[in-house]
Amino acid sequence: MKTIYKFSLLSAFGLLLLNACGGVPEEKSATGGVENAFSVEEVLEMVAKENDITRTLYTKAIVGKGKKQGMKFDEDWRKDDVEAGPLPALFLRGVATSIRKSPVPLGLYLGSDFPVNAANKFEGKQAELFTEIKKDQKPQFFYDEDQKLHTAMFADLASAGACVSCHNDHPQTSKTDWKLGDVMGATTWQYPKDSLSYKETVAVLNSYAQGTVDIYLEYLDEIEAFKDSEKPEIGKKWPAEGNYLPTAEVFLDSVKKLTSYETMKHLVAANE
Ligand code: HEC
Repeated sequence: MKTIYKFSLLSAFGLLLLNACGGVPEEKSATGGVENAFSVEEVLEMVAKENDITRTLYTKAIVGKGKKQGMKFDEDWRKDDVEAGPLPALFLRGVATSIRKSPVPLGLYLGSDFPVNAANKFEGKQAELFTEIKKDQKPQFFYDEDQKLHTAMFADLASAGACVSCHNDHPQTSKTDWKLGDVMGATTWQYPKDSLSYKETVAVLNSYAQGTVDIYLEYLDEIEAFKDSEKPEIGKKWPAEGNYLPTAEVFLDSVKKLTSYETMKHLVAANE
């Protein structure tokens, strides 16, 4: 599959768009049907990778640096009397909610064995597999017979000092000695089919990206409604430079730049 290299400078999303527009033909199987391009494991791995990068960017560049500028982040950020942005876990839940409302049958959930919020405690098979993840940090895949969903779990690491300090100090925490690098939880991803076409893969990645835009825009709306707090200037700049926040477009653009290479490697590999 040579043609794809011509586009190697485009972002994966550009590439995906080309795919969606028929730039890359779907392979035909011997029986004449369209053979699916990716296994569900591969696709969930791709989207989980994008999620890791997005979440780290949000945690470090927005929450971590924003706090130094006096910006506030709170679990009750949606309440009218709380003038703050979403915590990273709630940012993720916002993404999950947006995906649930989309036509893409992708499920996303963040859990732990020692959660801050008891509702996030792993149970059953997921609790069992999480003990394995804690040992070797390797992803776990299984078919959930009850829900009839292919399920993948990926370690969620304490990748920033803010993860550790906030969890250890939280009044509802069930563990106070988290350290940097610990497996603090896992993201669980679910999808009903065992393989996906290019189109379906594009739809999964797009619904994730759209989810991040949706929750980020909700955050910017929240700021717009601030009455007592100073509003950061929203534009091209980041909190590292002062009382600024990137627009949703600038934020997504950075996510794309950071994730496209990994995603593209998968897409190219699958075409060889
Ligand atoms: C400023 C505080 C804060 C920061 C920073 C933070 N968290 Fe959390 N985290 C929370 C709260 C509060 C919840 C519970 C949210 C809810 O109600 O579901 C949570 C939920 C979670 C969960 C789901 C299980 C649980 O504890 O309820 C995981 C896993 C998690 N966070 C990991 C992380 C990681 C990894 C980071 C850094 C990349 C991070 N958190 C950063 C406060 C924080």
